[in-house]
Amino acid sequence: MRTSLLKIWVVGTFFMVAAGGCGPHEQPDTIYMPDMVYSPAFKAQKEGAMRMPVKGTVPRNYVPYAYAKDPERAGRELKNPLRKTGDTLVRGQALYNTYCIVCHGVAGEGDGTVVPKFPRPPSLQSDKVRGWSDGRIYHVISVGQNLMPSYASQIATADRWAVIHYIRALQRSKHPTPSDLKAGE
Ligand code: HEC
Repeated sequence: MRTSLLKIWVVGTFFMVAAGGCGPHEQPDTIYMPDMVYSPAFKAQKEGAMRMPVKGTVPRNYVPYAYAKDPERAGRELKNPLRKTGDTLVRGQALYNTYCIVCHGVAGEGDGTVVPKFPRPPSLQSDKVRGWSDGRIYHVISVGQNLMPSYASQIATADRWAVIHYIRALQRSKHPTPSDLKAGE
């Protein structure tokens, strides 16, 4: 019983294959899975082969930034959410020394090690930047400014605010208040 079933299967398979494969070579009578034989060819990584993300898709952990074209409004509306603590300053310093120091220099005076191979950035000790709100500085870190690139993809939002606390400390070290001087005596 078993052998005869096997025989039927073998013979049957033979005829199926024969029927499919014995026509003129260029045009087989039966196309097995035509979808696969006649697949449309796409270049890898090109449009068509890639599935485009749904409109409005954002990367994971992406925080939308609403002030891209409005630095002044960013300066007015964005407030530093971090308290100035020892930990925040230590974190800010580590980030500043990682991402900013090469151009802006140890104390923010625009004398980093890549200068003058890279054009000298303006000083972070200027009256202008000292007069800026934290939000206005946050804006530059987030979207960049002319030659300076955006650091949005490298520095998390909270960390940007920590860097700003550290920049404030640098500014204060160069422009101490009378009470700072008194404390130092
Ligand atoms: C590759 C060099 C480079 C790095 C790294 C860099 N900057 Fe800058 N930055 C510049 C340059 C150049 C400018 C001036 C851009 C312009 O012409 O408006 C600038 C401008 C600025 C300004 C505005 C100053 C002004 O007077 O308009 C701020 C604030 C600033 N940077 C902060 C930072 C901080 C914070 C970091 C680190 C997170 C950083 N930068 C990293 C090159 C750099």
